[in-house]
Amino acid sequence: MPEQPRIFPVDAVRRQFPALDQAGRFVFFDNAAGAQIPATVLEAVTDHLRMRNVQRGGPYRQSREVDAMIGRARDSVAAFVNARGGDEIAFGLNATSFIRAISLAVGQTLASRREIIVSELDHEANVATWLALERAGARIVWWRARTGADGARLEPADLDSLLTERTRLVACTMATNATGTIVDVADVARRAHAVGAEVFLDAVHYAPHRPIDVKAIDCDYLVCSGYKVFAPHMGFAWCRREAINRLPTFREAFIPDVTPDKLEAGTYAYENVAGMEAAVARRPSPQVWRRATWASAADTCIHRG
Ligand SMILES: Cc1ncc(COP(=O)(O)O)c(C=O)c1O
Repeated sequence: MPEQPRIFPVDAVRRQFPALDQAGRFVFFDNAAGAQIPATVLEAVTDHLRMRNVQRGGPYRQSREVDAMIGRARDSVAAFVNARGGDEIAFGLNATSFIRAISLAVGQTLASRREIIVSELDHEANVATWLALERAGARIVWWRARTGADGARLEPADLDSLLTERTRLVACTMATNATGTIVDVADVARRAHAVGAEVFLDAVHYAPHRPIDVKAIDCDYLVCSGYKVFAPHMGFAWCRREAINRLPTFREAFIPDVTPDKLEAGTYAYENVAGMEAAVARRPSPQVWRRATWASAADTCIHRG
């Protein structure tokens, strides 16, 4: 018997995304700007708003439930990026505001390491934020892309002539949103750490397509956006505990000076964190939740319309 071709269940997948299910033949090609959300995520957001739209940290049931949900979300996102624990995950507005918050803190710790390496293939969010540090005395060093028949790419070996004992940090993307080119960020981290520099990664475009493993990459900071991975508009940062706890981040006086609190200024949209938790949480049944399957299924769905 010849092997039957595997047919992708596009209708079944579309049915799980209300915005696609109710849109007729609407073809959503704008997935570089985000993904649609499945009904499970929508339910988690509305359940939060309906049942416990209160501040965290209070001594009553609804507030304790918010604290518990945020704790679960930290653990789920920690698993999503293979972090050591939920305390390494901070939630907030978007990726850019986390890059800004961390870069402002890095800018206060330049000392004899004043050089920041930024790449030609990065999103403006991971370039302009670091360029702004020139006002704090940073020197920006450009990592140029190589171009060839297969497009532009970042070659980690090219960093060797840029990295010195003056390098404070290398900021680069895991995948460019312009061309989809993937960067060998584990190699970047190895080379940067060899001279005592840190590595800051933008995972926004990479996250919907491939699993992230911060332990294997051995980076120091990583930011991502929920709306690219089937969650609402929000962002999260993973930071190596030891690295972030050394930084003088902005926070209110009553906020502990340790991660994750020290990166979470003010109140954020808890309902979106509930949505993020629903989007990445590992469900009991592997049939219901398999990260890679989900990502590629929804991606195909969105591309095919
Ligand atoms: C590769 C990349 N980095 C960063 C960003 C900025 O993310 P955010 O909108 O969450 O600040 C985007 C947004 O599209 C992006 O595609």
